[in-house]
Amino acid sequence: TLVTLLVIAAAYLIGSIPFGYLLARFWKGIDIRKYGSGNIGATNVWRTLGKGPGMVVLALDLLKGVTAVLLAKQLENTDIAVLGAALAVMAGHSWPLWLGFKGGKIIATGAGAVLAIAPLPLLLAFLVWVTTVALTRYVSLGSILGAISLPLWMMVFQYHKTTLIFSVLVAAFAVWKHSSNIKRLLNGTEFKIGQKKS
Ligand code: G3P
Repeated sequence: TLVTLLVIAAAYLIGSIPFGYLLARFWKGIDIRKYGSGNIGATNVWRTLGKGPGMVVLALDLLKGVTAVLLAKQLENTDIAVLGAALAVMAGHSWPLWLGFKGGKIIATGAGAVLAIAPLPLLLAFLVWVTTVALTRYVSLGSILGAISLPLWMMVFQYHKTTLIFSVLVAAFAVWKHSSNIKRLLNGTEFKIGQKKS
């Protein structure tokens, strides 16, 4: 329906607000894309500007995902609108209109969206993320493994097939957005938490 299309378009626009870029640019006066991993996400903002700005970007990016899904549920509570809005908010974050379509890696925004759809699977994926990051100090590896685990948790909690397929798409999307991280992990040059900036 038209409402579905509007909800999905709104989700894309919400996702495309590049909070990491904006905060670094207008609060700290730097172009975050020129530092660290070059990513506009919370991890790179934390790495480059510290915990405070990192936490703010994390919260705002999470909020984008939650907002887009809750908006969909409010206006048109169907699978196509809700899961479509979730994918659209991630697409917006990943390919923002305002930054030449070069955006983030969808972990925080995706987590917010999935939280509003399937809280228990998201919580378990988050535990995978925390455990991996604590053990390896690689945020990207935590994100990759957490994303890959999501479809498994959907099955454990017996989510409907449509939601399971959605979670496979989200996992594939997230892993693909981490291509540069995977290369760095394989050749041993990935950033570690606590590592001194060069
Ligand atoms: O959420 C993004 C994280 O998994 C990786 O970020 O900056 O290390 O590429 P970064």
